[in-house]
Amino acid sequence: MQISDRAGTFALGDRTVKRMGYGAMQLAGPGVFGPPKDPAAAIAVLREAVASGIDHIDTSDFYGPHVTNQIIREALHPYPPHLTIVTKVSARRGADGSWIPAMSPAELTQAVHDNLRNLRLDVLEVVNLRSMFDVHGPAEGSLEEPLTALADLQRQGLIRHIGLSNVTPTQIREGRRICEIVCVQNQYNLAQRADDALIDALARDGTAYVPFFPLGGFTPLQSSALSAVADRLGHTPMQVALAWLLRRAPNILLIPGTSSVAHLRENLGAARIELPDDAMTKLDAIAAPGACRP
Ligand SMILES: NC(=O)c1ccc[n+]([C@@H]2O[C@H](COP(=O)([O-])OP(=O)(O)OC[C@H]3O[C@@H](n4cnc5c(N)ncnc54)[C@H](OP(=O)(O)O)[C@@H]3O)[C@@H](O)[C@H]2O)c1
Repeated sequence: MQISDRAGTFALGDRTVKRMGYGAMQLAGPGVFGPPKDPAAAIAVLREAVASGIDHIDTSDFYGPHVTNQIIREALHPYPPHLTIVTKVSARRGADGSWIPAMSPAELTQAVHDNLRNLRLDVLEVVNLRSMFDVHGPAEGSLEEPLTALADLQRQGLIRHIGLSNVTPTQIREGRRICEIVCVQNQYNLAQRADDALIDALARDGTAYVPFFPLGGFTPLQSSALSAVADRLGHTPMQVALAWLLRRAPNILLIPGTSSVAHLRENLGAARIELPDDAMTKLDAIAAPGACRP
């Protein structure tokens, strides 16, 4: 199945990508740690994604660690020229799978080289600096030192474009004084809408916003209002959740994650859905102040 053109495209750095992409985090083992149970299935998902027209894959070398990037390399290298692989740095994994901040210049340099080696690339197209002041959500703190280190690696030619992840508007403003910020990747979905104003501001600037956990992440979205809209329109709730994001703002690029070809196909189907206004109103109300959370 080819992705429908209906969802359109948006700029990511100096490339234009389809707004329906793919997030590779689910390809590692349980807890994003170690190898997947079925490596052949992981490879099949990636090959089907690219064969379906996906031209934007989100990853990190700390997924596994190393495992997800190695699977991407095995499945897709040599990469098609139109494929944009976006990675992220600033964490490492403990022996128990924990997520440990790794934002020093030396750790970031190591992470960039790990990504280059494991993906077998000479240059990384987009690298997101993932703020780790609080692993669970944006928290204030200066990103000057780590971002300056990434900008140095960019000047050395190892990185083409830089983005930010898990950040506040203040950190984006600070980041823009250090280097161009081509995308922001924060948690956002039908039920988690803290970034509403930020998305609109970034849209006005022409900056891509890439919501992580678009389907709710480790606990996929469940909502009776979402199910009712999906039933009425003849789509699945996950498709409607993605279609809502596509209609929410033109600068939103989707990277839903899945380890299953069946779910991948279902998710890609969201690109052809045009939600009617009354469905948007019902879906918007899910996260409205005072509404029952799903
Ligand atoms: N910057 C950051 O800090 C950060 C954090 C988290 C994630 N990310 C990126 O964002 C991407 C997306 O986030 P995510 O993968 O964590 O969460 P997600 O896309 O919100 O949801 C993934 C979960 O939903 C399930 N799923 C996917 N499609 C489904 C479908 N059609 N029906 C039912 N269940 C479905 C998946 O299970 P199955 O495998 O069984 O389909 C998985 O459990 C990641 O892959 C990663 O690249 C970035």
